[in-house]
Amino acid sequence: MEHETTKGGPGGAVPAREAASGTAPGASGDGATLAPVRVRDLPAEVGRGVTVRGWVVTKRSSGKVRFLVVRDGSGILQCVLAQGARTDAGAFAAFDVLTQESSLEVTGTVREDRRAPGGVELDVATLAPVQVAGEFPIGPKEHGTTFLMDHRHLWLRSSRQWHILRVRAEIERLIRAFFEAHGFLLVDTPILTGAIGESAGTLFETQYFDLGTAYLAQTGQLYVEAAAMAFGNVYCFGPTFRAEKSKTRRHLTEFWMVEPEMAWCDWRGNMEVQEQLLTHVVQGVLRSRRDDLVALGRELGPLASVRAPFPRMSYDEAIERLRADGSPIEWGSDLGAEDETRLASAHDRPLFVYKYPRAAKAFYMKADPERAEVVLCNDLLAPEGYGEIVGGSQRIDDLDELAGRIDEEGLPREPYEWYLDLRRYGSVPHSGFGLGLERTVAWICGLPHVRETIPFARLINRIRP
Ligand code: 4AD
Ligand code: MG
Repeated sequence: MEHETTKGGPGGAVPAREAASGTAPGASGDGATLAPVRVRDLPAEVGRGVTVRGWVVTKRSSGKVRFLVVRDGSGILQCVLAQGARTDAGAFAAFDVLTQESSLEVTGTVREDRRAPGGVELDVATLAPVQVAGEFPIGPKEHGTTFLMDHRHLWLRSSRQWHILRVRAEIERLIRAFFEAHGFLLVDTPILTGAIGESAGTLFETQYFDLGTAYLAQTGQLYVEAAAMAFGNVYCFGPTFRAEKSKTRRHLTEFWMVEPEMAWCDWRGNMEVQEQLLTHVVQGVLRSRRDDLVALGRELGPLASVRAPFPRMSYDEAIERLRADGSPIEWGSDLGAEDETRLASAHDRPLFVYKYPRAAKAFYMKADPERAEVVLCNDLLAPEGYGEIVGGSQRIDDLDELAGRIDEEGLPREPYEWYLDLRRYGSVPHSGFGLGLERTVAWICGLPHVRETIPFARLINRIRP
């Protein structure tokens, strides 16, 4: 519902923007009615009277003039109270009681000011507190990370978090737009699952009525594989869960992953989709969220060079390079974070590492027909030390091979019968990948830790707020 408010007091020369119905809390008066306007839309209202609703960022006085900086979630606005005709006397009394993060309604006339953020200021007519806030726990002084994470519900209001979460939302939008534009069907996969999707070591379990143990989904992959056989090209995009005992800067216990799955696609075609997706996302963010990246202090040069094609390196070659570089890593083990950083730092764009040892990867990956000890998979390593952001592979499409791998991993056959059915009824070569949203946001924003890339992070030692 559109609210309106009324302007009161002696400065009644403010022209109404448009008439609206209903009443808003907190404002009083009997002048012309003013429709509420979002701060980001104010440049189109220069010279007009408006109502703005928001929260106090700061206030200060200079002689007879009072300045109130207000944010409303869409932008920041400086409101100016000047003694004389235009500001209601009551506004000064209201100004005095307002504290940081108090909610309010302010009416006035929009004035162009090139120096102001957004290019406008508001000459205040009336000012009405809605709720006067108690002393806000987060001030301009430095706070420790634990304190800020404990107050995450309030920390979200700070400008840095505003920039990060706007970039996150834009990345999500760009990902969806990419798949929509390429004819992928969105398929929502279950969170409660009856079989292990990725690895036995990192499962959240819950008792599921009389049906035994259910697991929170580690991946939607097994389900998008079924959907790919029904719809061709599909993707899911949702939260996934890993009981990772890792306390690192890139592990969450709940994170969002986009997982496309493509029938008739091999592991090489799979990499091409990954580089096209990442190019679309990074270049898109540079276009539409450049100001947010700049406000975050992100260097833009390294992002500008992120364009397909990305360099490709086999796992074998990666091990050779690392060993030549003095690393003790042995062929057969998965790459660690430091190894990934070392490999990727030689490139100005993400690096594909392909054909990892079978033993280091998940059970569903197809073995290389020419060399059974490696699988047709890839990781995609982000530059600048951000490490793996994508894992993908061609899937086993042969019934016996897949059943054999399930047995080999010591997994029970029965919960996977439906998954094996996909290899019984019209099996085709198919591939897919998972892109971790939070790691991607951390990289694009240039953040040291994934905890600020999601509104409410779930970490090994954090379930609140
Ligand atoms: O490499 P992963 O485990 O791959 C899969 O889950 C496949 N089933 C995907 C598929 O082929 N459909 O995870 C994929 C990506 C990682 O590259 C990483 O970006 C992210 O998910 N990821 C995490 N992000 C944050 N916290 C964690 N604990 C993560 N684990 C994986
Ligand atoms: Mg992986």
